[in-house]
This record gives sequence, C-alpha cells and structure tokens, in this order.
Amino acid sequence: MAIRELRIAGYRSLKGLDLPLSELNVFTGPNGCGKSNLYRALVITAAAARGALARSLAEEGGMPSVLWAGERGKGGVRMTLGVAWDDWDYEIACGLPNLKSGPVEEGGTAFFLDPLVKEEWVRAPAAGRRPVALLERKNMSLWLRDRDGKRVSYPLELLASESAMAQIMEPQLYPELAWLRDEMAAWRFYHQFRTDPDSPLRRPQVGVHTPVLSADGHDLAAALQTIIEIGDDAALEDELDAAFPGSELTIFQERGRFEPGLVLPGIRRPFEARELSDGTLRYLCLLAVLLSPRPPALLALNEPETSIHADLLEPLARLIVKASERSQILVVTHSKALASHIEAASGCPVFRLEKVEGETVIAGRTLSGGEEE
Ligand SMILES: Nc1ncnc2c1ncn2[C@@H]1O[C@H](COP(=O)(O)OP(=O)(O)OP(=O)(O)O)[C@@H](O)[C@H]1O
Ligand SMILES: [Mg+2]
Repeated sequence: MAIRELRIAGYRSLKGLDLPLSELNVFTGPNGCGKSNLYRALVITAAAARGALARSLAEEGGMPSVLWAGERGKGGVRMTLGVAWDDWDYEIACGLPNLKSGPVEEGGTAFFLDPLVKEEWVRAPAAGRRPVALLERKNMSLWLRDRDGKRVSYPLELLASESAMAQIMEPQLYPELAWLRDEMAAWRFYHQFRTDPDSPLRRPQVGVHTPVLSADGHDLAAALQTIIEIGDDAALEDELDAAFPGSELTIFQERGRFEPGLVLPGIRRPFEARELSDGTLRYLCLLAVLLSPRPPALLALNEPETSIHADLLEPLARLIVKASERSQILVVTHSKALASHIEAASGCPVFRLEKVEGETVIAGRTLSGGEEE
C-alpha cells in the first residue's frame, strides 16, 4: 500500500513540509539541507508504530533536541508526523512533557528524554463526507472505532510517551488499526553499512534463512544465500555480473557460520569478506536489500551511493527502479549521477531540497518536473 503524502512539522529543520509521494521518490540537496532529517522522520514514524517512539527520539537527543529550533509562531511547541494513503490517514503530534525531577513519591521522574504524545488519530477519508475517525487520542484519553463500527472508549491506561497505535491490545477488535500499525512497523530503513576492519560484516556470522537483511548488514552472507535458495537467484547473478563483470559469489560456510566471498577475474581463490573493498561489501549489501525475497511496503535508503564507484551508479539506479515495482521507495542521495540515472530509468520525480532561514523546503523538481534545468 503506497503512501500518497507525508506531513512533517516541527521536526528539526522540517518546520512544515507536505510531500506528495510516488512509487519511487528521490531527494537530493546540499549538506545540511535536511535530507537525513526527512529520512529520520520516517524512521520515527515507524518506531511509533512499533512502540519505540520514546527510544527512537531519545537516541537522537530527546524532544528538546529534535523540536524545530527556529522562529516559532504562537501556540504550543510540537512535532507532528502524518502519513496519508488512499484509504487511511495517520497523524501523531508530540510535545515537551511538563516533568518534575525529584523523588518518585513526590511525583518526580527520571525520564526527561520522553516525549509527550498530545494528539493522535487515524481517519478513513470518505468521498463527499467527513472522514470516519478510527482512532482519536487527546493526551491520555483514547477513542477507537471497533470492528462493528461502534465508537468505544479504550479502557487501558496509556503510556503518555508512546503511540496509542502500538498499545492496542486486541487486534481482532480493531483489525484495520492493527493492520495499519503492522504495515508501518514493517517499513525498512538502510543507512550506512559499517565496513571498517572490526565491522560485523567482515566476520563470519551465524547463518539462518534471512529474507530481510538487518539494518547493519551483519547477516549479509545469510541474506545472499537466502536469495540463492528461495529468491530471484538469476537476478542476483545478473546484477553481480553487471556490477563486477566476471565475478562469482561464494558463500563460505563453516560450522553454521556464513561469510560472503567473491571470486574476481585474474585471481583464482575467492576473496573473503575481510579482504573485500568497502564499496564491494556495500554493493553486496544493496543487492541483498533490493533483491529481498520479502519486499517491504516502504523501503527508505539514505545515501546508498556511499563509497560506490561512479560506474556502479547506473546499475544501482536500475536495481532501485526495478525494486520500486515491488515496494514504494524513498532514496536520499548526494549523488547527482545516481539521481539522474534513476530519473532517466523511471521518470520519477527528483526533489531538490534546500534550507531557507533554517527551514527545509523543496527547491524544485529536476528534469521531469520541468521547474529546474
Ligand atoms: N532542532 C532543530 N531545529 C532546526 N534545525 C535543526 C535541528 N536539528 C538539526 N537541524 C538542522 O538540520 C541540519 C542537519 O540536517 P540533515 O542531517 O538532514 O542534513 P543532510 O541534508 O542529510 O546533510 P548531509 O548531506 O550532510 O547528510 C543541521 O545542520 C541543522 O541545521
Ligand atoms: Mg544526511
């Protein structure tokens, strides 16, 4: 199910940004313009669906750090994340809690990084009529529409710092909400794969069926072996050959531990993971991500071009465009070449972001949008 629009407000440099999305979306722009902020806003939305909103925010400094730090109008300070599909609309708004330090018996707390969820809703747009509310939360009170269309007050005590979506206990009573939550929670994000000598990517790892590469890529060998066994083995072979002509993939296996290896032209023995170049390892990770036998509803990639040679950007763009037939894709990139290869292969919009007085705005669309050169 494809997202039609993202609405982000009050999150870092995204003071207020409404973004229409297509099946494939590319964002580019100078350092610090807010590309990663956009990517992170989606990471936080998915975390909210999983019940990890507070943790995800705390990991980047907590509410005081993430709230838009620029000029503010009247009204409370809040961060709003909204996602609209054809049939649903979800929004969550968080602010700074009014917390007291000191002993717990006197109402004090130690959790100063926690956000306070102020408002949250799910609505189903109805043609020509007001949207039907499926979930409505104001601070700590929550209404849901159950399976029979009845509005019920939710009896359980909520955690003020977590989404109501993640705290609904009886999915059988609220099937649509449960479905929407699972959909968001399964969005997939990849940013940077560590390839330094101590990286888990360079060491043998326990191998089990791995249809989804982990975020850090440590299970790369198992993910590639899974594609070979139950995925599109032929595509993997073709893409490898397009990227590294004449190469051959080997998955070393010893006592249950797997490690990727590559035979490269001119050398007879396969290179082990610790011998492969950073770019080669990262490209193998991207192959595992984009050829996953279980494509997600949404796949977001932040700077996939990192240490990939210019010659590989065209095959990478093709791979991304092909994957967008199975998943909605959002790519954040510095690389003009990658963006224009994707645009040429798909006709998808490339959005150029820029910062105006600290605020991230869409500067224009390249080529197909007609507004830029
Ligand atoms: N709370 C905040 N309020 C307003 N702006 C913020 C806030 N926190 C961070 N920023 C701005 O966001 C910028 C970082 O944005 P981001 O990481 O998205 O950039 P980027 O486009 O990904 O850049 P790069 O190309 O270097 O990766 C910071 O330089 C800062 O200007
Ligand atoms: Mg960035």
